Amino acid sequence: MIYFDNNATTKIDERVLKDMWPFLSDNYANAASTHALGRSVSAAITDARETIARSIACRPGELVFCSGATEALNIAIKGAAFGAVDGRNKIITVATEHKAVLDTCAYLEQVGFEIVYLPVDQYGVVSIRELQKALDEQTIAVCVMLVNNETGTVQPLAEIVRQSRAKGALIICDASQAFGKLPVDVKELDVDMLVLSAHKFHGPKGAGVLYLKNGVVLSPTSHGGGQESGLRSGTLNVPQIIGMARACELAVSELDANSTYVRNLRDLLERELLRIPGTRLNGHPLLRSNNVVNISFTGIDANVLIAALPELAVSNGSACTAAVFEPSHVLTAMGISKEEAYASIRFSLSKFNTVEEVEAVLSLLTHYLSRIT
Ligand SMILES: Cc1ncc(COP(=O)(O)O)c(C=O)c1O
Repeated sequence: MIYFDNNATTKIDERVLKDMWPFLSDNYANAASTHALGRSVSAAITDARETIARSIACRPGELVFCSGATEALNIAIKGAAFGAVDGRNKIITVATEHKAVLDTCAYLEQVGFEIVYLPVDQYGVVSIRELQKALDEQTIAVCVMLVNNETGTVQPLAEIVRQSRAKGALIICDASQAFGKLPVDVKELDVDMLVLSAHKFHGPKGAGVLYLKNGVVLSPTSHGGGQESGLRSGTLNVPQIIGMARACELAVSELDANSTYVRNLRDLLERELLRIPGTRLNGHPLLRSNNVVNISFTGIDANVLIAALPELAVSNGSACTAAVFEPSHVLTAMGISKEEAYASIRFSLSKFNTVEEVEAVLSLLTHYLSRIT
């Protein structure tokens, strides 16, 4: 199996697993317990919090541990909406955001908030002009991803932040697909909230974190034991948090080496794929994360290709919703036709891929295409 689906999820790093193991076995105490075993687990959580804070340049107290990016985005967006003051009632987001954002916004729309979905250009870059038009003193927050999960397109966050600040709006950034690929420094990005998901950078599934800038007040969306400053009640998932911290540390310390390595592999794959007649790149040619290439292959059905090549793990330009295949909302928002979206494949690489795998994928694809045309 050649795994080129690293934007869906990544293989856990052995070093991460090793750090998690004691907390899945002997160190099983609740981090909130006051006995000795509980205190030792709590100390490990404190270390993990400090490690994660260092890796995005914030303070440990500015982190809220939760189950992943979906939950973090729900806490952030709904928390900002329900905690809004001064009669603000508008959330601005982008048509190409992840469903974790779009569906949360759709829910808020149903309960009376105004939601603006900004359009993007042919490369998936958000329209700053439309942002300027939408922003006003009613805006609670602007929610935008740093890197798109389907195309890798990087949004012009600095300009978005500049415009949003001028109207007093909060900035929520989904950095799930950016961390481990680009430097992510919350002070430099100047955002109010930022979301990470551990399984996107060789950490465990079911672990995520919300950075919440000191002083920003959210209304809690779930209630219970009051953990995580009352924003995410529930017993801390200790092994996953320990694993996430190790994965963060590795992602930052190995960022330069991994980005260069993965970029070279991706560039080789991209160059060769684009030599195939009838192929087209989806996403920005330059402002793109180093590990993704999304390509339309004229005349193919990506689902059929994926089924025909069981030795290859990639994603297609469609999403299965209620057992119906819909063309990707990201690609169609970029003006790509339904047919081309169905004919699109996302290849997303990681540090665990090799040149031999890239060559094998190219050979599998050219063989498949010569058979069907
Ligand atoms: C950009 C983006 N945001 C949010 C999510 C949701 O992440 P999680 O699986 O941690 O809930 C994903 C994962 O697919 C993603 O790619």
